[in-house]
Amino acid sequence: MEIAGRVVRNAAFWMPRRAPSIKNTPSGPETQVARLPFLRQIGRKGAETAAEFPFSVPVVRSLTTLAFPEPVTFFVGENGSGKSTLLEGIAAAAKLPAVGSADLAGDATLVAQRTLGAALQLTWNRRTHKGFFLRAEDFFGFTRRLSAMRAEFLRELAAIDVEYEGRSTLSKGLARMPASRSLAEMEQRYGIDLDANSHGQSFLKLFQSRFVPGGLYLLDEPEAPLSPQSQLALMMMMQDMISQDAQFIVATHSPILLAYPGAAIYSFDALPVQRTEYEELEHVRLTKDFLNQPGRYLRALREASE
Ligand SMILES: Nc1ncnc2c1ncn2[C@@H]1O[C@H](COP(=O)(O)OP(=O)(O)OP(=O)(O)O)[C@@H](O)[C@H]1O
Ligand SMILES: [Mg+2]
Repeated sequence: MEIAGRVVRNAAFWMPRRAPSIKNTPSGPETQVARLPFLRQIGRKGAETAAEFPFSVPVVRSLTTLAFPEPVTFFVGENGSGKSTLLEGIAAAAKLPAVGSADLAGDATLVAQRTLGAALQLTWNRRTHKGFFLRAEDFFGFTRRLSAMRAEFLRELAAIDVEYEGRSTLSKGLARMPASRSLAEMEQRYGIDLDANSHGQSFLKLFQSRFVPGGLYLLDEPEAPLSPQSQLALMMMMQDMISQDAQFIVATHSPILLAYPGAAIYSFDALPVQRTEYEELEHVRLTKDFLNQPGRYLRALREASE
């Protein structure tokens, strides 16, 4: 089996192992093998009296504290239950950069979420400023912005070639240097063929190039463009990153991603949000049941078309 260009010889290969149990050594050396996740918990700074969005969302209104004891935490729940709202609030409070079309601080669509961010109390085991926040819809903006930047660098270089025609190689080389260096860095980091990949392929490439050790990653429905195999590839990348001291908080509907071993799963279908076991999730039960007997679910469709 091949997953995102990696040959996987047996089905168990990709399965991440549970992170080793963590020894908290506040005064110990920083070289401990396993470390506590960066973000320990979120809570509310005070009783919020505002009635409008985002405080109108029941899970936000009923939030007291939420702990992140594992390197991977999932937010799961029905559409509209508030997963993105809370994730965006955490991203704003943690001041994480957005891998999107606009930075969080300047994104006009996230004004309310910044208000939530300001109302959240974040407790850190260790503060990190590495990592990013990714909304699935932002990825389109991100690739567009990258190709616009690349086109701009190429235009700049072409203009320099015209302007410096007939002048020494040295002066032309010096003039070209800033743009060609930026272009080379961009191409090295993202691959010049980002546009030539499919949405899902680009998404995996983005993860590969942007994951750095020691980061906190907030991902909102990263499964959106990914095939089941690519979701397994994403899980392998997450495992790699966790072994290099990373933390993930992921809003998802994917029964595949949700199976990440040892993850803390919070159901947003309960008030307040409640920690839940994988096997008890409605997403998992329904998907299993549907795959076992699709006819039972599709009978209604057939009857409607008769
Ligand atoms: N900018 C906004 N202004 C007002 N209400 C909003 C805004 N954004 C979201 N909501 C409402 O807040 C609630 C929670 O939305 P949110 O996007 O957080 O849900 P979700 O759990 O992420 O859903 P999904 O699974 O569909 O992504 C919904 O009822 C939604 O209509
Ligand atoms: Mg959402």
